[in-house]
Amino acid sequence: MTLSVTPSGASCGAEVRGVDLSGPLRPEMVAEIRAIWLASKVIAFPDQVMDDDALERFTLAMGGFGVDPFFDPIPSRDHIAAILREADEQSPLFAENWHSDWSFLELPPAGTCLLAINIPPFGGDTLFADQVAAFSALPDARKAQFRQLNAVHSARGAYSPAGAYGDKDTQRSMAIRPSPTALETRTHPLVQCHPETGEEALFSCAGYIIGIEGMNDSDAMALLFDLLAWQSREEFIYRHRWHTNMLILWDNRSLLHKATGGYEGHRRELHRTTIAAFS
Ligand code: SIN
Repeated sequence: MTLSVTPSGASCGAEVRGVDLSGPLRPEMVAEIRAIWLASKVIAFPDQVMDDDALERFTLAMGGFGVDPFFDPIPSRDHIAAILREADEQSPLFAENWHSDWSFLELPPAGTCLLAINIPPFGGDTLFADQVAAFSALPDARKAQFRQLNAVHSARGAYSPAGAYGDKDTQRSMAIRPSPTALETRTHPLVQCHPETGEEALFSCAGYIIGIEGMNDSDAMALLFDLLAWQSREEFIYRHRWHTNMLILWDNRSLLHKATGGYEGHRRELHRTTIAAFS
């Protein structure tokens, strides 16, 4: 072990030091980082001086680029999106609801990288909720019930023309591109076995999950919102405080995450890539 790892003290999350991510990484280092990532679910690398080339190199080393629908990439890059809010922006916050990235895809991304570009002096933390811990803490009867359920996922509430980031959302600085393809649905088991750790986790939540197979809508939504209250209990949450020159990497298969505000009057920009599903 060559890296220094400081656990957050919460259910998930760790800070990792002892590596320079500005250049290429040796395979042993990649393996070490991946192991820490799988164990901690979300890891932060402080004091890194990384440009977009370094972000792409890191993403490729961790598993390759995922597919990113509904965003235009930043100029001259195919796989980097800007999570951006201008200082004077009035549009509702982006990603302020719990979610697992692109869970409505057939192969949702294994992970997401977020690189600090402009960090406000206060606010703008990212919250993570540990869904392995959330599942494990359920009573056995609930675990057995949830293992039987298949969830119907869709991006319609967010990225369809009528969705939150749709045709009426005209003042946003982020390059979000709504599309009728957001109306598509895809089914995933509500409880997934992590393909790398074997741990069971609740996968995604109300928001991108719009129903449960074989259940009427009102029962399904009541179950999903009840479950969301459980999934986001304080004991499962790690609050990530951003600093300049910081990269974080999280696991979409074992976490929910959400953005927070509280930085009115300040610009916030992060560059984001997703890591392709592990197969
Ligand atoms: C995201 O969900 O990708 C963005 C999180 C954040 O802005 O903190």
